[in-house]
Amino acid sequence: MPVVGFGCPLLAKSLRCNCTNCEKSGFECETDGACMASTSFIQGREQHIRICITSDHLVPPGQPFYCRSAEGLLNTHCCYTDYCNSVDLKVPSRESSPGRRGHGGGWDPGWVGSGGPWGPVELVAVIAGPVFLLCMLLMVGVFLFQHHQRAYSHRQRLEVEDPSCEHLYLAKDKTLQDLLYDMSTSGSGSGLPLFVQRTVARTIVLQEIIGKGRFGEVWRGKWRGGDVAVKIFSSREERSWFREAEIYQTIMLRHENILGFIAADNKDNGTWTQLWLVSDYHEHGSLFDYLNHYSVTIEGMIKLALSAASGLAHLHMEILGTQGKPGIAHRDLKSKNILVKKNGMCAIADLGLAVRHESITDTIDIAPNQRVGTKRYMAPEVLDETINMKHFDSFKCADIYALGLVYWEIARRANTGGIHEEYQLPYFDLVPSDPSIEEMRKVVCDQRLRPNVPNWWQSYESLRVMGKIMRECWYSNGAARLTALRIKKTLSQLSVEEDIKM
Ligand SMILES: Nc1ncnc2c1ncn2[C@@H]1O[C@H](COP(=O)(O)OP(=O)(O)OP(=O)(O)O)[C@@H](O)[C@H]1O
Ligand SMILES: [Mg+2]
Repeated sequence: MPVVGFGCPLLAKSLRCNCTNCEKSGFECETDGACMASTSFIQGREQHIRICITSDHLVPPGQPFYCRSAEGLLNTHCCYTDYCNSVDLKVPSRESSPGRRGHGGGWDPGWVGSGGPWGPVELVAVIAGPVFLLCMLLMVGVFLFQHHQRAYSHRQRLEVEDPSCEHLYLAKDKTLQDLLYDMSTSGSGSGLPLFVQRTVARTIVLQEIIGKGRFGEVWRGKWRGGDVAVKIFSSREERSWFREAEIYQTIMLRHENILGFIAADNKDNGTWTQLWLVSDYHEHGSLFDYLNHYSVTIEGMIKLALSAASGLAHLHMEILGTQGKPGIAHRDLKSKNILVKKNGMCAIADLGLAVRHESITDTIDIAPNQRVGTKRYMAPEVLDETINMKHFDSFKCADIYALGLVYWEIARRANTGGIHEEYQLPYFDLVPSDPSIEEMRKVVCDQRLRPNVPNWWQSYESLRVMGKIMRECWYSNGAARLTALRIKKTLSQLSVEEDIKM
């Protein structure tokens, strides 16, 4: 072991080091070079040396010879701060793996202590640090996820089970009729509270599918022993679901001739959202289904026609005041969108395409697109796109045209003296089964054709009145058509004359 600058003189140099051989100077030395520590294992003997190295012996620069280690024999560490060579170096062994170069430039297979990079502690820190950080991030992630889940289910529970007045609404013995009665007397006028809607919807047991439309399926369901209809929209149709629920919850819309809305619910099952619209169930199904199955008496015809006019008049009517309602146009009136109740009256359904009139600003509540609805029932001004969409009454006039077509479907099925016609859709003899707009436009606008009103209807007062109403619903000029209220009055009068109890 070379002893370079080794000795005891306390030189007037700046760096102080531990010195194993400097008994006289209290095992300390001073140098202008480096402090050095080395541990050797030679011929079975361990030897620890700490000394000063003078600057002129620190050659070659950067990797001084005296600071080098020798694998398996010698661990050497040079350093440049006071007493920095107090470190305990590992005893070299043949098996020890090569380490990194110490900052003294020697081959440093690993020393224990402070002052050098990439020692075992540092190595552990370098490896364990990121692992620890990763674990922490993972734990924080898991915690946040669990927290979110807990908050979500709590929120869901709150929405379903709270507010605390729920038990008042949903006491076990209450039927739907009771609920809806409570609602009508509580004065909101726009439907059940949302949490009640949700609870009702989530406790319905679906029984059988009863129909399929453009936006989804319709099911019969059971709630507390009573039947309900559930229209299930696909998640793609969320906008239609939302719009229909919104329209049904228009303040003061409820009417005996408008389908009774019960609840809307969007149930997220984790993968997709189920969109439900719950309403009264009518076992006869749509007017289209009904007329296909049954012919009707004169009384039955008037009942159907008058109730449909009452429903449409209520829909169209604007009621002013705090408990008022806006005027609403249906825009998809047809026999499939009118249901037949047990008492032989109609209930207008499918309000998903409806528009509401905001009379203060004289605007329509959504940007109406030109041609929605069912092509067969489109008014001439809708088919040729001349409808004035800025004017809300235009939409009401288009509804009246469609009502006239529905009346024609009903009147054909009226049983007079044992005669009645088979069920047919309007224009069945003039257009194919799924007509295009162009095909409808040619017939309705260009040729100005309308469904046939047979002459023999003139022989029966009620059929004569019905025929007259139809013609006045079908004018090419929308503004010339009857209003729903006018039709309602005419048919009311007819029902009195015919001694019909409504
Ligand atoms: N509340 C209800 N009670 C009983 N049956 C119903 C009810 N609502 C709908 N239905 C039945 O389900 C069918 C499908 O209704 P839906 O409104 O989805 O489609 P549609 O009216 O036939 O066609 P579109 O998609 O053009 O409106 C109806 O034709 C009717 O027979
Ligand atoms: Mg429908």
